[in-house]
Amino acid sequence: MRRTGCGCTYDPPTVSLERQTRLLRAKSFPLLSPKARPIELHGNKTGLSPSAIKTLERLYRRRVPSSNITTPELTRTLVEASVETGRQVGVLVHRSGQVDYVIVGDAGKLMLPDIGRLRAAEGRFRGLRLIHTHLRGEPLTRDDLVDLVRLRLDLVAAIQLSSTSEARSLVYAHNVPSDGTAPYQEFGPIPLGQVDLNVAALMDNLEGEFARRSKGREVRGKDGRAILIHVADKSKPYALRDVDVSMRELRELARTAGTEVVDSIVQARDGIDPKFVMGKGKLEETVVRALQLDADVLVFDRNLTPAQASAIAQQSDLKVIDRSQLILDIFAQRAQSRDGKLQVELAQLQYSLPRLTQKDDSLSRLTGGIGGRGPGETKLEIGRRRAKERVSHLEDQLKQLAKQRAQRRRRRTRGAVPTVAIVGYTNAGKSTLLNTLTGADVLAEDRLFATLDTRSRTLRAGWAGYGEREVVLTDTVGFIRNLPKDLFSAFRATFEEAADADLLLHIVDASDPAKDGHMTTTEGVLGDLGLERIPRILVFNKLDLLEPTEAIALRRGNLDAVFLCATERETTRDLLERIASSLAERWDDAARPRVEAEPEEPEEPA
Ligand code: GTP
Repeated sequence: MRRTGCGCTYDPPTVSLERQTRLLRAKSFPLLSPKARPIELHGNKTGLSPSAIKTLERLYRRRVPSSNITTPELTRTLVEASVETGRQVGVLVHRSGQVDYVIVGDAGKLMLPDIGRLRAAEGRFRGLRLIHTHLRGEPLTRDDLVDLVRLRLDLVAAIQLSSTSEARSLVYAHNVPSDGTAPYQEFGPIPLGQVDLNVAALMDNLEGEFARRSKGREVRGKDGRAILIHVADKSKPYALRDVDVSMRELRELARTAGTEVVDSIVQARDGIDPKFVMGKGKLEETVVRALQLDADVLVFDRNLTPAQASAIAQQSDLKVIDRSQLILDIFAQRAQSRDGKLQVELAQLQYSLPRLTQKDDSLSRLTGGIGGRGPGETKLEIGRRRAKERVSHLEDQLKQLAKQRAQRRRRRTRGAVPTVAIVGYTNAGKSTLLNTLTGADVLAEDRLFATLDTRSRTLRAGWAGYGEREVVLTDTVGFIRNLPKDLFSAFRATFEEAADADLLLHIVDASDPAKDGHMTTTEGVLGDLGLERIPRILVFNKLDLLEPTEAIALRRGNLDAVFLCATERETTRDLLERIASSLAERWDDAARPRVEAEPEEPEEPA
């Protein structure tokens, strides 16, 4: 046993170092062993003298036993190279003992080369430790710690130089399992002769512990663990006003998509960063947070450009999803009819086409799960040529289906059965109202977009003063603010049903604190669809969830509206009367011959 200059101990090799290296690679780290790398300097190489380059290249000849942080020879050459260049110099040493990368920085920092990805959740480490110099004897920097955590390095150590440029002490840090605390632990400064750490034993323990935790962790979300991110542009008026409402909705969307939300991050900045949206420092913090919480998805509460999504994915090594993708994902999971499935697939392809023009990291990570699935069991098609062919095929099929829908509607019109369309924000209670009024069995769930396909049911009732009459009631897709553009056009067809309606019921969840915003959104979408000319009844639903005083105030402020609980049939009487009086003109229209309504044609099977 020998003591090294840095205080570590190891058995001197009895076989040649080269042979020992090979043996170690084959036996101990078969999975981690990289291919032999060419001797290449990385980082800031500008203006290096030939002699400095020689000193730096000499670093590739150094070998470090797996139990030691560094050796006196490696430390000496690192210091020599740093003094000669006036820059930080570092090496990434593989567990086999080989120096895999030599990196040159500037006086204050070192930029690591791209060393590829490693899935954080796997409980494994990179098998590389970073040893570098700090010219002014600084402690470990935030960049050092972020690299340690983000790249899953075994360890990061800095050799601190004194004012006379001598190696004085060592600081180091390694990853630790954390439950919301810092995911790393720092040590030092320790005088170079007194460092006493068996790195190999430490890594054995840590990998065992990380693997145990990742196996034992209860995964509730079927589609991974997500961090939600909202970046507000302070220079825009009202940028901060709606943050809470918007994040609450994003949380709901994520829940509906099946993702477990483990944290939310809000950043207000003077302008959106064109590349990373949130600023590099904050993104690094977020990545550390993601590693801490074992999150694998970042969900942005805005739409990202293809370049932004790609840059963030590359920088973070995480799956990156924006609001549109999240909504598309929900739609993909929920589409039921043939029409709905085709529309969703079309919208997804239209969304991903511009992202296929470049090698896109955010998409290449979408190999399934959230953001990566098509309607039904299909995986998202991401070959550009095939995607384009598929888009035109889908458009043709949709046109065909639209024709059939129009025919069905015409037949209904000929039958003179008035149509009433229920519109409103998602989760307002549209399907529940349709069910209660018609006894239909339509999916009503406390999730966003429970309904994706238009469903029509006939309501036959004895209307006061009009005898027994029929109306066709139509449930529509829930509206949502900032509905993705592609989705809006793809779903326009679904609203065609509403376009032919004689009357719209605009239903609002009266208990939602964001109801005013929901109403504005719905009015806006109706305007965009050109439906503002159709007579409308405003219906406040979920009255049972309101305090009596709130209900009184709401009634006072909305004298024309109807108030009810869609879950209780007896509360709908007022609404039925209002529908009757609105349709009276139509029913009284003696000129129109009254023909029996044809039976509803069943939706085409999916
Ligand atoms: P989307 O399909 O997303 O557009 O939703 P929707 O507007 O069709 O809403 P849905 O009928 O699915 O209802 C959403 C949730 O609200 C369900 O859990 C319903 O049970 C609940 N809900 C509907 N009406 C009432 C009500 O009057 N009172 C209460 N307490 N809950 C209601």
